[in-house]
Amino acid sequence: MHGTDPRPQTFTRSGAFRGTVRVPGDKSISHRALMLSALAVGESRITGLLEGEDVLATAAAMRAMGAQIERSGKGEWTVHGVGVGGLLQPATALDMGNSGTSTRLLMGLVAAHAISATFIGDASLSKRPMGRVIDPLSLTGAEFTASPGGRLPLMVRGLCPAVPISYRLPVASAQVKSAILLAGLNTPGITEVIEPVPTRDHSERMLAGFGADLSVEIDADGVRHIRLVGEAELEPQQIEVPGDPSSAAFPIVAALITPGSEVTVTHVGMNPTRTGIYKMLEAMGADLTYSNERVVGGEPVADITARHSALTGIDVPPDVAPSMIDEFPVFFVAASMAQGRTTTSGLDELRVKESDRLALMATGLAAIGAKVEEREDGLIIDGSGGEPLEGGATIASALDHRIAMSFAVAGQHCYHGVTVDDVSPIATSFPTFEVMLAGLARA
Ligand code: S3P
Repeated sequence: MHGTDPRPQTFTRSGAFRGTVRVPGDKSISHRALMLSALAVGESRITGLLEGEDVLATAAAMRAMGAQIERSGKGEWTVHGVGVGGLLQPATALDMGNSGTSTRLLMGLVAAHAISATFIGDASLSKRPMGRVIDPLSLTGAEFTASPGGRLPLMVRGLCPAVPISYRLPVASAQVKSAILLAGLNTPGITEVIEPVPTRDHSERMLAGFGADLSVEIDADGVRHIRLVGEAELEPQQIEVPGDPSSAAFPIVAALITPGSEVTVTHVGMNPTRTGIYKMLEAMGADLTYSNERVVGGEPVADITARHSALTGIDVPPDVAPSMIDEFPVFFVAASMAQGRTTTSGLDELRVKESDRLALMATGLAAIGAKVEEREDGLIIDGSGGEPLEGGATIASALDHRIAMSFAVAGQHCYHGVTVDDVSPIATSFPTFEVMLAGLARA
């Protein structure tokens, strides 16, 4: 895992970005593909799997609980599942590295099995709140012994049979929703998650794809009621993982802010619960075109072409936040180079991601010459009007891959470049990022 040897890197002003690239597989879908394949009876095949550290942590944990998981080629994996209810007691602590998604979803799986597991992680993950998952899973009968503040290291003692629950999400979180649904898989009766604000729905789509009895009803207030019939039997699947729209946002923003650029990213997941970033960039005047639109493995996919554009600041409506929650760091970079003011609010969740992304982006952007005001729940940014920023600073990436990649992109349009103190966290989600960016700059 990364984190042992910090790897500083300087990103300097480049010419235009040109070319066609494919970004690695979607991180959220890759985690779920491994977990559900490991719970099906028989052999599933996955192509396009993200081979980043976060997903490898999920694979290692599922192996430790009995699944047979093998890599047969680049992004090609075969999984022999143990069946719902068949997870085995792991012999040692499960090391989740930097991955909040692995931790929270697996806590749900363990909670409804007659096993116990200890979860550990890196310094970033060990600061992140797990109470949001502990609270609902405790209602199913699972027991938790957590570090102070409901943090890692923590131990889960599962209960089988667990108690089905109906739970209204107090925070808009796909991880919490998914943890409850995964616990519901091995629980008799109907488990219900009530979701007032929609979040990414990959779990729902994939559970249905594996043959689980899952329904979604939207009530008169627009609230989603997701119901899963427990003690499910999952059928093995062939899964093609689309490219990650969160990763695609980095080369796309690099092209939008750099004069003369035209970049196409192929095979990008276009699930509407994930595409807020592209809608907001278009609202700023971004020249984005979508082609080759199709459905792959139950998920919409398209090729996106981005051309350098004169961007104008906007007010981002807070209800768009869940559909671009991971893209705010690179969105703030675009805003800092746009014409006029961009305001964001309702982003409290950004403070509990791999780092406090509001604080780190505000400090880092200010250090490279952007005009930024940090509010409790968002940033207000007055853009440079397309001019490069000053740059010349060293930015702390704080074990956060998206902070590192955002400032790598910012460095492309700064007079004196930007140094990221440690780029090794990029390997959690986008191991080919630096090579891809350099390739687009050379083309
Ligand atoms: C994820 C959900 C989001 C997102 C994370 C991946 C998932 O977190 O930020 O990177 O795969 O379910 P929250 O559900 O906590 O918002």
